[in-house]
Amino acid sequence: MKILVTGGAGYIGSHTQVELLQAGHEVVCLDNFSNSSPKVQERVERLAGKKVPFYRADVRDRAALEQVFREHRFDCVIHFAGLKAVGESVTKPWEYYENNVGGTLTLTDVMRRSGCKSIIFSSSATVYGDPSEIPITEDCPKGRCTNPYGWTKWMQEEILRDLHEADVKNGDADPWRVVLLRYFNPIGAHPSGLLGEAPNGIPNNLMPYITQVAVGKLEKLHVFGNDYDTPDGTGVRDYIHVMDLARGHAAALQAIQAGGVEVFNLGTGRGYSVLEIVAAFEAASGVKIPYVIDPRRAGDIAVCYADPGKAERVLGWHAEKSIEDMCRDSWNWQRNNPNGYRD
Ligand code: NAD
Ligand code: WQD
Repeated sequence: MKILVTGGAGYIGSHTQVELLQAGHEVVCLDNFSNSSPKVQERVERLAGKKVPFYRADVRDRAALEQVFREHRFDCVIHFAGLKAVGESVTKPWEYYENNVGGTLTLTDVMRRSGCKSIIFSSSATVYGDPSEIPITEDCPKGRCTNPYGWTKWMQEEILRDLHEADVKNGDADPWRVVLLRYFNPIGAHPSGLLGEAPNGIPNNLMPYITQVAVGKLEKLHVFGNDYDTPDGTGVRDYIHVMDLARGHAAALQAIQAGGVEVFNLGTGRGYSVLEIVAAFEAASGVKIPYVIDPRRAGDIAVCYADPGKAERVLGWHAEKSIEDMCRDSWNWQRNNPNGYRD
């Protein structure tokens, strides 16, 4: 298939590009580099052994998108482009709504005018809010999000669902085909050490914080609360290797052919606590991670892990990589690229 990957230079998009190219798909990438580097694309091409047409453009830029869609006929768009920092979304809500929701509105309008109405969207377990059941199935109701970032994902899902439903009601012979992928906690990196997560400034997420402590850029980990109702009192999450996630997108390309709106959790189905992650990282890297216990972080929930059974049943996909693989590859990436994609 011929696929436009928006936000393809980002953490998950870059790994997914490699996976798609290796699976024989034709890929065109679009990114504005607001949270990534041109070096990513060189490395994607190196790993895949292929050139990839690239547009430095913004998904809110209608004219730029129109040009891309004039120059290519796509079977599907995989839409990663967006802002994703939870804390920043609280201080800059307008920027988050405008970029994420506005970007999706412009993109889908240009798509429908050019006759491409198939989209795979990067959603998040954050749409479940504080989940009403664990493990979380796709039928678990969407919850109240605790930050503007989460609401943007919530809204983008609704927009895509409504586009499909309106087509059906209007008797459109070829209604929008939508796959909503709700990622749990992506970590890890390409095993080559050439691609990985490169946050700007001090990381918000657990694994990049740990790897920066390990490499000596940060002094110690701050564990946010040890009084949750969990076996060791620290928060439990479903960490998933970014390579497994990338494969999940290739699998979703099959589901999109079936039509309709489909939602899939992409997780492993197994939760690990913060202290279990610290121990697993220490075992994989041989580096001790000093930590202190701090108060709970506002908006955090105690436990979040997926029931990934639907993705297995419908897509034949399940996560294959272990927590050891995730820690080893995160460490390999950080050690070889202590400053991310900066020299
Ligand atoms: P990322 O920031 O590494 O990648 C996003 C990419 O989109 C970046 O390269 C950025 O430059 C680009 N971008 C942002 N706004 C753009 C715009 N208006 N036009 C063009 N390009 C734009 O993030 P990621 O971790 O790879 O996440 C990818 C997607 O998955 C995001 O939509 C994110 O919300 C979602 N997601 C991420 C996680 C996670 O923990 N990493 C979890 C769930 C969902
Ligand atoms: C994991 C655990 C923290 C940092 C976020 C977004 C979510 C999704 C994935 C995009 C929690 C604890 C963390 C630290 C810590 N992103 N922690 N010290 O919060 O589960 O999910 O990323 O869609 O929307 O909210 O991930 O990695 O920040 O935290 O103790 O320095 O580690 O309290 O229990 P989270 P995280």
